[in-house]
Amino acid sequence: MFDDKTRCVVLVGVQWGDEGKGKITDVLAEQATLVARYQGGANAGHTVLVDEGEFILHLIPSGALYPDVRCILGNGVVIDPKTLIDEIEMLKSRGVDIEDRLGVSRRAHLVLPYHKQLDGAKEAAKGAGKIGTTKRGIGPAYRDKISRNGLRVCDLADQDYCWRVVREGAAAANAILDYYGVEERADSEAVMSSLTALTPRILALGTDSGAEIRDELARGGNVLLEGAQGSLLDVDHGTYPFVTSSTTTAGGAAAGVGIGPTLIDEVLGVVKAYTTRVGAGPFPTELEGDEADRLRNLGAEFGATTGRPRRPGWFDGVVVRHAAGVNGLTGLAVTKLDVLDSFDEVLLGVGYQLDGVATANFPERAADIERVRPVYEKEAGWKADTGSCRSWDELPEAARHYLRRIETVAEVPIRLVSVGSARSQIIRVG
Ligand code: GDP
Ligand code: IMO
Ligand code: MG
Repeated sequence: MFDDKTRCVVLVGVQWGDEGKGKITDVLAEQATLVARYQGGANAGHTVLVDEGEFILHLIPSGALYPDVRCILGNGVVIDPKTLIDEIEMLKSRGVDIEDRLGVSRRAHLVLPYHKQLDGAKEAAKGAGKIGTTKRGIGPAYRDKISRNGLRVCDLADQDYCWRVVREGAAAANAILDYYGVEERADSEAVMSSLTALTPRILALGTDSGAEIRDELARGGNVLLEGAQGSLLDVDHGTYPFVTSSTTTAGGAAAGVGIGPTLIDEVLGVVKAYTTRVGAGPFPTELEGDEADRLRNLGAEFGATTGRPRRPGWFDGVVVRHAAGVNGLTGLAVTKLDVLDSFDEVLLGVGYQLDGVATANFPERAADIERVRPVYEKEAGWKADTGSCRSWDELPEAARHYLRRIETVAEVPIRLVSVGSARSQIIRVG
């Protein structure tokens, strides 16, 4: 992926998250010198499988398992300080020393305990209409950021300032908790005491993510900007309101670390060979019953962050074309092809019908997306093991045909195909 002309790559999820971004980031990180997250927070769950076992990372970039890779959390990430320190300790206990090669933007906002309380209370109050968030406080933390009530990493150096923000934040949170009719309350003393205990370690990680990345590129390094969630969870371009609260798409990468978009050379979209979604919201190619169970079990589709069963469905070409457009994808990494190995036939969504009329575009309103009927192409299954294939030519002919159809429907060339969770189970194309 990286060469003389490709020095800064953005990696984005193409669907509703969990596409295998962790695995692909890890594969690309072999050639990277710096990997940075640019948005989201501990709602992410990125799985990396190496000889030492499986690692699930929520905040720290998935380049962490290469000992020489510098890892950065950009200004666009919302950071739960306790989760970050716990993750550093988890890695350390498993032999991965990260603390001296980890940087956290001093401009990044903090997720505080009352953000998580608010997330939980709002979801509970919404009942059947809930979004099914990860309850990591993401929405309330970004709300405080945008409404200019947030606390940033740099602010930790000024305890008086922290007290003022936290007191006000806790009071506002308590009014909302009261409105939602829950009994629990935010406690500014408790928030400050846990924050104060973590402050020296968090401040020591402080950096200017944009300046670091610009310097790294200037000195000839390779930089990977690792997206979290997926394009259909983007707050603007996703299935609003069933989305997360950040710009997950590639346009957010530059702003989320502090570089100009002109520094980005390629945008790689990570896409499953089928589709999954976790949480509520429209999902046109969703499967139900036995077929859903079969795909969920074959793909081990259970959330890396919350353990919830993921909703499985067929590949949706309309979703992928939409994502290709809003991200400016230059290549695709297709993951989990092996999960389809045993199917007699595989369905590929190529269009939608809305009220009997063909529509080429992805509708804006969730209510319309709920009503579309996918138009499918039936592809022959390959009924063979792809997990041991290491080159395009080794793939069964029907699998190659399926991948070529994906490429044509998406109008984006495939650069990588993943045929298993392990690092070695990767095929480079072209
Ligand atoms: P992310 O959030 O996009 O990083 O994806 P997750 O880690 O949440 O979920 C992807 C899951 O699929 C993880 O359990 C990975 O180990 C696994 N995985 C990744 N690539 C492949 C693949 O090609 N085949 C199979 N069978 N599993 C894969
Ligand atoms: P990775 O990076 C899949 C979903 C939640 C919910 C919605 C909003 O592992 O792909 P939030 O907690 O962000 O306010 O929840 O977004 N969601 C994810 N789904 N993978 C993720 O991350 C997700 N992060 C959030 O399930 O529907
Ligand atoms: Mg995940």
